[in-house]
Amino acid sequence: MKLQLALDAISLETSITILDQIYTGIDIIEAGTPFILRYGESCVRALKERYPDVEVLCDAKIMDAGAFESEGFMKAGGDWVTVMAFTDDATIRDCVQMVHSYGKRVMADLLCVADIPKRAAELEALGVDCIAVHTGVDQQAMGGTPLEDLRILKGALKRKMAAVAGGISLKSLDAYLQLNPDILIVGGGILNSGDIVETTLAFRRRIDAHQNR
Ligand code: 5RP
Ligand code: MG
Repeated sequence: MKLQLALDAISLETSITILDQIYTGIDIIEAGTPFILRYGESCVRALKERYPDVEVLCDAKIMDAGAFESEGFMKAGGDWVTVMAFTDDATIRDCVQMVHSYGKRVMADLLCVADIPKRAAELEALGVDCIAVHTGVDQQAMGGTPLEDLRILKGALKRKMAAVAGGISLKSLDAYLQLNPDILIVGGGILNSGDIVETTLAFRRRIDAHQNR
């Protein structure tokens, strides 16, 4: 199981100070959507240059112009890009084709998709590499969590990787571990924890302990 750290409401400078201490404990550095809106593709280049052995995911949440928008992130050195699952199949197909031409991977984000099994089957056929259930920040504020969606996704997936995001913390971690997602995405649960370094390492230890059971 991979641990993905989502850099959202944090500066690039602070991120680097923190990542220098913990990058060996995480598998994927996410250039989060607000981070990308603030810094553009240059933050992807900066992260990849500094941490060449860690995968960098660009949470661009692409909704249109799948080939054009994804190529910029590939040129900047990104290893993954996200596309919204609810958008047109053509956008997803173009995104997959472009990203795969660079030997990189696409994660489809099921945010606001009601029929998860149906869309997951379509996304698998469209060739995405990973499908993520995601309870957004605004949905979290209304009490939502992605736990039940992850259970549904895991039951539906045939071949592709499953990821989960949306308010996961050390407190709620065990329930997610039980469902064995391929990628566990954590943002605020680490960045707002008070001790980012120690909390990241605690996630790493608990994931490793779960896998070595
Ligand atoms: C919001 C996002 C976040 O990166 C994702 O939800 C993870 O952050 P958190 O753990 O704080 O929910 O993409 O749209
Ligand atoms: Mg994100």
